[in-house]
Amino acid sequence: MADWKEEVFAKLETKLEAECRRLAGRIPYRTTNGVYQDDYVEKDISWWTNGFWPGILWQMYHATGKGLYRQAAETAERQLDKALHDFVGLHHDTGFMWLHSAVADYRLTGNEASRVRGLTAASVLAGRFNPVGGYLRAWNHDCVEPNEDCTGWIIVDSMMNIPLLYWASEVTKDPRFAHIATAHADTVRRTLVREDGSCGHIACLDPVTGELKTVLGGQGYGPGSSWSRGQSWIVYGFALSYRHTKDPKYLETAKRTANYFIANISLTDHIARCDFRQPADPDYLDTSASLCAACGLLEIAIHVDGAEKAMYRAHAEKIIRSTVEKHCNWAPAQDSIVQDCKVAYHNCDDQTDLIYADYFLLEAVLRLLDKDFLIW
Ligand code: GLY
Repeated sequence: MADWKEEVFAKLETKLEAECRRLAGRIPYRTTNGVYQDDYVEKDISWWTNGFWPGILWQMYHATGKGLYRQAAETAERQLDKALHDFVGLHHDTGFMWLHSAVADYRLTGNEASRVRGLTAASVLAGRFNPVGGYLRAWNHDCVEPNEDCTGWIIVDSMMNIPLLYWASEVTKDPRFAHIATAHADTVRRTLVREDGSCGHIACLDPVTGELKTVLGGQGYGPGSSWSRGQSWIVYGFALSYRHTKDPKYLETAKRTANYFIANISLTDHIARCDFRQPADPDYLDTSASLCAACGLLEIAIHVDGAEKAMYRAHAEKIIRSTVEKHCNWAPAQDSIVQDCKVAYHNCDDQTDLIYADYFLLEAVLRLLDKDFLIW
């Protein structure tokens, strides 16, 4: 009898092949009435999630060898060229966009044009570095309220983007990109990771002096709260910084923040609330946070031994099983798999599906089956 991981992968294959054929060159973000109606190639090619669909396609190509996934991934990669060329829409999330598209292509096929795209995106990200504050600036003016100045803002999400810089140093043999990545990781650790293992979302620094002014709740409930997807970006992001640098303080940070995450989901069926410190009602969930954290736990498990390795792997499996049993739509005729995500605590949509939740489910299952390849 096939084990549960193989059964889940078989369902993922059926669903993703059907979606790939239906999408026919469009880039999805989330559904409306169960259908991917918006095409982000047309709607907003610079949108931060536009790498996750090609990331799904490259993971599926790597795991199955099927050409339809590769062809669709190559199409998405070429479509993203417009975002690089336009430049003004680009932001701190160039890692999410090009690690999963061009860099994945280069890693799997050695395509030279993909290497150049990846290095261009890495240079855009590196260009956001503020050397006085030691941080990569988040967002652009058009992403915040007109009265806000975000030139000194850092967000935890950025921890998942800096692997693009580690990659750029690796392929160019030039340590400058990695120097920026570690300086930024150190600033995030100092300003946003709390002693108890929780984290804030946005640290506001003075962009001229680098001094920390305040920490904001951002996509979480409020100042001092604990936005779960931000927590998962920190868990996985520091685990990846450890993979790329072998600096023990990054592994310590990944473990401390992971232990906090595990403790907080242990009473809620291993699925994260949108904010671990949100009021009891409404009881918003965010499955995308749990799934990203599951990948982070599996990454940590690679770098530890014995009972600790087994513990992180077991908690990742609990998250994945709970999600696939209670929060997935497996109908091949409908779009999107993982349900019950939340864009942000104060976002007007209650629960939704989000393309990156599907990406992290796929990556987590492939990791358990030893069929993944490193996107980050
Ligand atoms: N990076 C934005 C988010 O997690 O919603």
